[in-house]
Amino acid sequence: MGLDKRILTIPGWMDRPELKWILYTVEKLPDDGVVVELGSYCGRATAAMCQGILGRGGTVIAVDPFDDADMARRGLKSKTKCMLDTFKQVMATLDFSPTIWQMTSLEAAAQTEDQSIDMIFIDAIHYDVGEDIDAWRSKMKPGSIMSGHDFPGPSFDVEGQVLKRFPNVSQGPMKIWYTNV
Ligand SMILES: C[S@@+](CC[C@H](N)C(=O)[O-])C[C@H]1O[C@@H](n2cnc3c(N)ncnc32)[C@H](O)[C@@H]1O
Repeated sequence: MGLDKRILTIPGWMDRPELKWILYTVEKLPDDGVVVELGSYCGRATAAMCQGILGRGGTVIAVDPFDDADMARRGLKSKTKCMLDTFKQVMATLDFSPTIWQMTSLEAAAQTEDQSIDMIFIDAIHYDVGEDIDAWRSKMKPGSIMSGHDFPGPSFDVEGQVLKRFPNVSQGPMKIWYTNV
């Protein structure tokens, strides 16, 4: 089955080929796979993950503080705020029930067991993607997938930070990066 067309109506920056890559990649994970998204916004990519694995018994964990506090602490202004109520409403419309962790990436990493995640998609604070990679790497199962968006990015050095850690990283469609770890 192809990507649920309703997903394309959810606000966000992920283009159709990128959403299809997420869906097809998640579909190849084991039935009980655990997928984490850092930075869920209104749920555009989350929904593609949910379509690919929730019906098979897998788990999708959507990590987002759904506020500007963490960005403000770092002296950054967000243009990308989506409120938790909106996210929940979008998921309810599609009949998806991801696990929602309303917190920052680093807080979420701190409460996650080592070697417990099958795939992570990093799309949170782009100016320090390296921080997210470093915090989550030990949480990944051997052979699992680390991936993310904005490679290359519009302004932040996502490409440089990813390449520093994964010189042989693969480029997915458009602005997707991914690697097995
Ligand atoms: C570019 S948007 C994500 C877009 C989303 N993946 C999609 O498919 O539409 C970035 C998101 O990161 C969230 N965010 C900001 N700081 C964060 C942090 N420290 N940890 C996790 N998410 C964060 C923002 O609230 C925002 O919703």
